[in-house]
Amino acid sequence: MEELKRSVAREALKFIEDDMIVGLGTGSTTAYFIEYLGKLIMEEELEDVYGVPTSYQARLLALENGVPVVGLDEVDAIDIAVDGADEVDPHLNLIKGRGAALTMEKIIEYRAGTFLVLVDESKLVERLGQKVPVPIEVIPAAWRAIAEEIEVFNATAELRMASKKDGPVVTDNGNFILDARFHRIDDPLDLEIELNNIPGVVENGIFADIADIVLVGTREGVKRLER
Ligand code: A5P
Repeated sequence: MEELKRSVAREALKFIEDDMIVGLGTGSTTAYFIEYLGKLIMEEELEDVYGVPTSYQARLLALENGVPVVGLDEVDAIDIAVDGADEVDPHLNLIKGRGAALTMEKIIEYRAGTFLVLVDESKLVERLGQKVPVPIEVIPAAWRAIAEEIEVFNATAELRMASKKDGPVVTDNGNFILDARFHRIDDPLDLEIELNNIPGVVENGIFADIADIVLVGTREGVKRLER
């Protein structure tokens, strides 16, 4: 599995050119991409490339690997964003947020000229929600009320815990994460909008209609899916 992640990360480098502003995603697949990107920058094979990190994790990795970072408020535009996903459906709708960075990921990836997604073949599903719950970032004081309100969508939601000892997972923005399991997600875009309408919801992990290209690592090589 790690080799499949590495292979898509290597393939993603082909999309990066000099002078690009690159959104840096969060997670184990993007970690390889950041590492390889840093190598090309250090070897001066790429010039004037800057990363806009989607999380503290991505920021630290970028700094460790020699990728210069800038904030979203320092750039005019993001040329390309590169990130992993937890599920990809046949229309390239995604579920993201296993790493609790979904809000900044969506902020950056929504604005990128191209949003390139890197997954291994285990992430492909016929319908979103088949394998993983939908993460929802919520204002901490509202977590219980929102968990109950989500039941009207024929779903159950659990507060994500770091561990019994460490308590709830706290996002980079100081919020909690609810993991919501839906009986069936027929219209991802509609659900994405509806969830964000609940007061106290900051953002949710359905990324409908924003991925441009998905690179899939398979045993037969890297496959490219496009909308
Ligand atoms: C981070 O919040 C997530 O959206 C990740 O991008 C997603 O969980 C994919 O991570 P892996 O590449 O580690 O599977």
